[in-house]
Amino acid sequence: MQTPTRLIPLAVALALGACVLAGAPEPEPTGAEDFADYCASCHGLSGKGDGALAKTLEHRPANLTRLARANGGTFPTTPVMAKIWGYTGGKGGSDIMPNFGPLLDSDTIPYEGGDGIMTPTPLRLVQIAEHLKTLQVK
Ligand code: HEC
Repeated sequence: MQTPTRLIPLAVALALGACVLAGAPEPEPTGAEDFADYCASCHGLSGKGDGALAKTLEHRPANLTRLARANGGTFPTTPVMAKIWGYTGGKGGSDIMPNFGPLLDSDTIPYEGGDGIMTPTPLRLVQIAEHLKTLQVK
């Protein structure tokens, strides 16, 4: 089922309203903050795969700044999200990438990840993907 794009502002407004009503002043972390907290230890703050833990790992963390270049210049949003999701959704965490439960459990918003289909997607996952887009090399 597709959700019209024009409903997004409404969904966001409702979500914000719900926060106010629930008296929940704690804002969700931004994509950059979540990336720093959950990803940078391996992938590095710049996403190049040079985080502090990188050298200690059996698997080299991927260079996340070249995902668009490797995909003909278009950031592969849906596959990237599926990858992050898959590490937990499918396997409940792994020795390669840890469990990202808090990111996946966040409230969902309708999001179009490049496949033309509006899909309810956890907000913090969307924010991380949007942050990763800003790290791409040309
Ligand atoms: C414990 C280290 C570690 C952490 C933390 C980590 N990763 Fe990874 N990641 C890896 C390794 C190692 C690989 C390469 C192996 C693989 O692709 O399975 C990888 C691969 C990936 C890929 C696939 C890249 C490709 O070429 O398709 C994506 C996307 C990714 N990570 C995103 C993230 C994001 C986003 C976070 C934070 C929410 C994160 N990773 C946190 C270790 C980590």
